[in-house]
Amino acid sequence: LTKIAKDTRLIVAPTVEVRLSGPRIFVAADGPFRQVKGPVLNILEVFRQAERFDRALDELSDRGHTALDFVTLSSTVMMLVEWGVLVPQLDTAAPKGDPVEGMWTMHIDMLDDRARTDAYIEAIANAVKPGDVVVDLGTGTGILAVAAARAGARRVYAIERGGIADVAARVFADNDVDDRVVLLRGLSSELDPPELADVLVTEIFGHDPFAERAIEYIHDATRRWVKPGGAIIPSQLRVYAAAAELSQELVDKRRFSAKSAERWTSSYDMNLSAVGNVRPRHAFHLEDVADDKVRVLSERTLLFTSAIAALPATVVGHGRAIVVDDGRLDAAVLTFELDVGGRTISTAPDHAARANSWEPMVWAQPEPQPLKTGQSVTFDYQYAISRAHLSVNAAD
Ligand SMILES: C[S@@+](CC[C@H](N)C(=O)[O-])C[C@H]1O[C@@H](n2cnc3c(N)ncnc32)[C@H](O)[C@@H]1O
Repeated sequence: LTKIAKDTRLIVAPTVEVRLSGPRIFVAADGPFRQVKGPVLNILEVFRQAERFDRALDELSDRGHTALDFVTLSSTVMMLVEWGVLVPQLDTAAPKGDPVEGMWTMHIDMLDDRARTDAYIEAIANAVKPGDVVVDLGTGTGILAVAAARAGARRVYAIERGGIADVAARVFADNDVDDRVVLLRGLSSELDPPELADVLVTEIFGHDPFAERAIEYIHDATRRWVKPGGAIIPSQLRVYAAAAELSQELVDKRRFSAKSAERWTSSYDMNLSAVGNVRPRHAFHLEDVADDKVRVLSERTLLFTSAIAALPATVVGHGRAIVVDDGRLDAAVLTFELDVGGRTISTAPDHAARANSWEPMVWAQPEPQPLKTGQSVTFDYQYAISRAHLSVNAAD
């Protein structure tokens, strides 16, 4: 039996599935579905990222609208642990270094992206009042924390999990703000705030805005690091999609085909024809938007919008767009916008600044579909517990 202490960190197991049948809820983790009573959905939401047992129970009992009682909560959590739905996270130490080595070079793109960085610095200058406490979630090179100190913050907590924190420490000293900026190394969700902040600044958005678990970390930070009613930069997020045809070069590179399977069959003298039939729906980010690799066939449509302060744990977005060019529907292209102070930053190539550090996400669809001008396409987008999914289909 798994022993749970009050500081044991639990997380939803990666294989967990939930089924609703009328009012009944069933969960499975690598085994049969079992009916579960009690506030199981609230519990899964809280543990979608690793959370301490005692903190999770506090948070769940605090939710005034659900008024969950402590005994039901703790017994339901213990039952979910027994079933393998919640698993202890053994490695409680903050990760050392960068999770992905290539992440170092992203700081070059971000610092070169003046539209992004200037918008943040301007928003910080307007939001931070002298004497404020600021938390910079994901400080990277430290640039936004320096901006917050210059705006008059009494104290800036600059959180960074990666090796780039060493650079930030130098940047703080070189700019004479190291008396006010406190560098906190580690994952924000695993650190405890020394005091609550008046302003939260964060730029942890990937090419897919949620790919770097922005929802989970921002949700945790707004709950634990910021005073009620504190300011949050950015303020609003919008996610868009458009239908697209991919160039033959991109299709060859990004879709399994009978032709490539034949080539591999001959190269390796093995029958690899089954690989040619694989049809995943998958995403990749488009590195060189300028090369005519993607032809957009529809208007872009809004799939989802939310205040950053109120991001839901699970994102569901639907949209419909008119086709403006005949072609083959191969993919949905996902872009997003952030409202940063008075400015809007867009990742869409036709709306973005030239040095935009984000690239559109291309969601290749399993099968191509013919499209005619005037027809509609429908989009379905979902994000839950670090899994995203975008599909597009021709409609009448
Ligand atoms: C997109 S960069 C932004 C860096 C810097 N704020 C800027 O605007 O140039 C995001 C940084 O946040 C860090 N990061 C992301 N999530 C984090 C978390 N939950 N806790 C600590 N650091 C995080 C990453 O390691 C990365 O260095």
